[in-house]
Amino acid sequence: MSNKKRPYPTATFAAVKWHTGILTLLDQRQLPGEVVYLEHDSATAVAASIKAMVVRGAPAIGIAAAYAVVLAARSAYQSATTSWRTACVAEIALLTEARPTAVNLQWAVATMCKAFNAIAGDPEPVLLNLARQIQDDDVVANHAMGRLGAALLAPASGVVTHCNAGALATGGYGTALGVIRTAFKNGTIAKVFVSETRPWFQGARLTSWELQQDKIPVQLVIDAAIASLMGNGEIDWLIVGADRIAANGDVANKIGTYAHAVSACYHGVKVMVVAPSSTVDMTTASGADIPIENRAATEITAYKTIQIAPNDIAASNPAFDITPAKLVDVIVTEKGIIQAPDAEKMLAMFG
Ligand code: MRU
Repeated sequence: MSNKKRPYPTATFAAVKWHTGILTLLDQRQLPGEVVYLEHDSATAVAASIKAMVVRGAPAIGIAAAYAVVLAARSAYQSATTSWRTACVAEIALLTEARPTAVNLQWAVATMCKAFNAIAGDPEPVLLNLARQIQDDDVVANHAMGRLGAALLAPASGVVTHCNAGALATGGYGTALGVIRTAFKNGTIAKVFVSETRPWFQGARLTSWELQQDKIPVQLVIDAAIASLMGNGEIDWLIVGADRIAANGDVANKIGTYAHAVSACYHGVKVMVVAPSSTVDMTTASGADIPIENRAATEITAYKTIQIAPNDIAASNPAFDITPAKLVDVIVTEKGIIQAPDAEKMLAMFG
C-alpha cells in the first residue's frame, strides 16, 4: 500500500499523526476545500508525500520523516531481523533527499538514526517513542516561542505573515502563527495581514484557513501589496518562519520573504523570524551555502490544470530565498531571542 484516502468531517486537524502503526498526513494540497487524510505505511510513500507537498513546512516535514524512519526500520526488521540497520538505508536516503532546503528534515532523520546503535531487538517501540518526543518537543517549543515573540509586540500592532508557519507546518500551534496566536490572546494585535504566497498559495489557502478556525480576523492580500501596506503605515511587524537559519543568522524561508524584508527595512517595519532550534544549522556558514529547492516550472506556468503562460515558455521556480541577517531584527527560538543576529550571537546561543 502506498497511501489511502480517508475524509474526516471535523474542523480540528493534525498535520502529522501516528495511529495504530500508520502515519496519517493531512493532505494540505486539498485545503481549504477538502479535509482529507492520507494513510502511510512505508517510508517510501512518506518521502513521496513530502516531495508532493501533502505535508509541508520545515518542522512538519521533519516530524513526518521521523515517523517514516519508524516505518523504514519496522519493514527492514520484518525482512532482515539481524541486519535491519543496513536494510533500511535506501529508504532513509529517499527521505533525506525529498526536499533540500528545510534542515529540519535532515535533522530529524539524523536524530532518529543516532538512536539505532543502542537498540537491541525490535526497533519499532524505541524509535516510535523518539519520533513522538520530536513531535511533542516541537509543540512545547512553539508555545515557548509564542510567548517570547508576542512579548515583543506593542499594543495595537499591525502584523503581516508570509506563507504558512502555523499548526499545519509544525507539530501543532505554529512558529510565526504561534506568536500571532499568543499576541492575539494577549490583546496586542490590531490587524493581521496574510500574503497569498505564490505559487502554492500557502498564505491564501492555509494560513487564512487556520486563522479563520481560531476566529482571528485576517485580511488576505496579494504578495505585491505588502510594500504599499507597509508604506501606508499599516504594519509594525513582518513575522515569518524559517526553513534554515545559517550560522551567521541568514534566513532561508519561502520565496518572497526577502522582498518583504527589504520593504520592511525601507519602511521601518520590524522583522521577526520565529523557528525552533532544529531549524538552526550551525554547520552552514551563511545563506549562500543553503541549497535552494527549484521546483517544476509548471507550478508557475499553470494553476492546477489551467494554463497561464504561453506553451514552452522558459520559467524558473525557486521555492525559497535568503534574507540576510542584517535585515532581521530578531530571531526567536525556544532557547531565547537574538536581537540583530550575527555570527557571534548565533554561536553564543547555538554553538
Ligand atoms: O514550501 P513550504 O510550504 O514547505 O514552505 C514552508 C515555509 O517556507 C515556511 O515558512 C517554513 O517552513 C516555516 S514553517 C514553521
